[in-house]
Amino acid sequence: ARGLKLLFLDVPARADIRSPVTLKCEYDLEGGNLYSVKWYKDGSEFFRYMPDYNPESRAVKTSGISVDLPNSDMNQVTITNLQFNNSGNYKCEVSTEAPNFETVANSSNMTVMAYPSEDPMIEGVLSTYSAYSRVWEYRPGADETDSQGLHTKTIGLHFQILNSHFSSEGGLSRKMEIRCTSTVGESTRHKSIQPKLNRALTSNKLAQERQANAAGQLSYV
Ligand SMILES: *[C@@H]1O[C@H](CO)[C@@H](O)[C@H](O)[C@H]1NC(C)=O
Ligand SMILES: *[C@@H]1O[C@H](CO)[C@@H](O)[C@H](O)[C@H]1NC(C)=O
Ligand SMILES: *[C@@H]1O[C@H](CO)[C@@H](O)[C@H](O)[C@H]1NC(C)=O
Repeated sequence: ARGLKLLFLDVPARADIRSPVTLKCEYDLEGGNLYSVKWYKDGSEFFRYMPDYNPESRAVKTSGISVDLPNSDMNQVTITNLQFNNSGNYKCEVSTEAPNFETVANSSNMTVMAYPSEDPMIEGVLSTYSAYSRVWEYRPGADETDSQGLHTKTIGLHFQILNSHFSSEGGLSRKMEIRCTSTVGESTRHKSIQPKLNRALTSNKLAQERQANAAGQLSYV
C-alpha cells in the first residue's frame, strides 16, 4: 500500500519572544511527488513551499508572522521577531501532485512567552540578624507591566527570627538561607542569600541593628 504519511510535527509548546523558533514537519511521500507544504496559524496560511514554483518558498506578508525565508524549506519554517499574538494553533499540511493528490495535516498549539532575562532580585535584607528581629517587609504582590507587555512581579516576606532558629551550640552564629525562585515555562531561575544569625548581641549592637533596620537597606542584586 502506498500513501503519503505525516511522520512528525514539531511545534514547541512554548517559545521565547526573544529568540527565533523553528517548527518542523516531516513526512514520507511514499514515491509520490511533492506538490506543496503549507503552514497555517489559526487557520490562516502564512508560509508555503512549492518545489515547482519560483521562488519555491513564499511567506504571506499580511499574516503578522515574520518568516525567516532562508531558514525555511520543505521540512521547516523559522519564525523571527516573535510577538505575543503569535501564540496559537500551527498546522502543517502536505500535498502530493498527480496522480495521487493526497493531503495530510496535523497541528499543535504554541504559546509565546517572555522568559526572565535575569535571576530574581532579593532586596532589603541585612547581612546579620539577631533573635526577634524582623527579616524584612516588602510591598506584597506588586505587578508592574511595561510598554511591551512584560511583567515584573514582586513578592514580600515577613519573617520573625525566633530562638528556635538558632543552633543549640550557643553563641555561634549560623547562617539562614533566603531563596527566591522564579518559574516561567521551562525556565527556572533563583537567587539565594545567607544572612548570619547572631544569638548574643549586646544592647549596644542591638540598638545599632535597629537603626540599620530602620534605615533599611543592604541590597543584594
Ligand atoms: C500583534 O502584536 C504586534 C505587536 O504588539 C502588533 O503590532 C500587531 O498589530 C498585532 N497583530 C494582530 C493581528 O493583532
Ligand atoms: C498529530 O500529532 C499528535 C501529537 O502531536 C499525534 O498524537 C497524532 O497521532 C498526529 N496525527 C496525525 C494524523 O499524524
Ligand atoms: C489549542 O488551543 C485551542 C485554543 O486555545 C484550544 O481550544 C485547544 O484545546 C488547544 N489544543 C490542545 C491540544 O491543547
